[in-house]
Amino acid sequence: MKKILVATGGGDCPGLNAVIRGIVKRASREEDWEVWGSYEALNGLMEEPTRLIRLDDKAVSGIHVLGGTIIGTTNKGNPMSYPEKQADGTIKLTNRIPWLVDRLKSHGFDAVINIGGDGSQAISQAMFEAGMPVVGVPKTIDNDLNSTDFTFGFQTAVQTASDSFDRLVTTASSHHRVMIMEVMGRNAGWIALYTAISGGAEICLIPEIPYDLSAVIRRIKSRYNNGRGFVNIVIAEGAHAKEGSITSTLGEEGRHAVRLGGVCFTLSQQLKEAGIEADIRETVLGHTQRGGTPVAFDRVIASVFGVKAMELVLDGKFGQLVVLQNNDFTSVPIKEAISAYNVVNPNGTLVKAAKGLGISFGD
Ligand code: F6P
Repeated sequence: MKKILVATGGGDCPGLNAVIRGIVKRASREEDWEVWGSYEALNGLMEEPTRLIRLDDKAVSGIHVLGGTIIGTTNKGNPMSYPEKQADGTIKLTNRIPWLVDRLKSHGFDAVINIGGDGSQAISQAMFEAGMPVVGVPKTIDNDLNSTDFTFGFQTAVQTASDSFDRLVTTASSHHRVMIMEVMGRNAGWIALYTAISGGAEICLIPEIPYDLSAVIRRIKSRYNNGRGFVNIVIAEGAHAKEGSITSTLGEEGRHAVRLGGVCFTLSQQLKEAGIEADIRETVLGHTQRGGTPVAFDRVIASVFGVKAMELVLDGKFGQLVVLQNNDFTSVPIKEAISAYNVVNPNGTLVKAAKGLGISFGD
């Protein structure tokens, strides 16, 4: 039998289980492949004793509707800069990729399918360059991976944010308040933009369009002057003002990316200081956007990504990332996908359409 190792890395995301199920179901149509999962990204393989699990049809039955990942995930223990404790107690970051590839081979693995965002795909590329046959699957609610129209998980996050936004609209209207809802997305404004259009926000603040506080204030005042009496704002966690960054970070050490969050409170304070008299309330949606069952669209693309990833393995096409491009499923070199971030184009169709709908970006 040939063996394939599946890992889910980085933040979790609705649709991870559907990908795992797609891989296993497609593999079980072959006679000579068996699928294994590594617990918490590749840590399950790197640890002694290993934490690996055989994934067969029974293990993945019905999991496509479940949130999270049955094999767990982590954004700690990156093998490209693995924290190793030294004799003197200090921590040294070492590149354990060559060691990892040897270990994969010595455990009899013929290929790896690595499901993850930009950080995980950088690891995929490093393993591939070190001689391991690897296929990647693009995961993240942020939709910030290059070369694919959508990552799986994004649509579910938008649905969750949009549902919450609708609820905030009715309470904003009842109390004549300004409601600020903060969504995730890291340095990309996709979740905020889609939610603002879906929900009909008055203001949408995203990292790609640094905003002018006075323009935000003008928009709020004009809503109250027109007698409408309430305002709903969507702000992306990575949004910042043109002058003087108000990006808020929760400053957690030992992470490959800065941890964002809390920018809605800073904006709220600034609006109060600028004389907005209406009550202002803040909501940070946080990890609700990452949890729960995937919406149908995410289940579909995640399932197809899983099948397609397994087929790339069967065809011996490695170093590739499965992607959705122009409504078709294909693949691109992982190297290409991680060469740039996919961020919102400030002059693109979506932003123009949002402006046409009357949404202000504070620019
Ligand atoms: O990349 C997904 C994401 O949810 C981002 O939107 C967010 O900034 C980050 O992960 C949060 O990470 P953690 O779950 O480690 O707090």
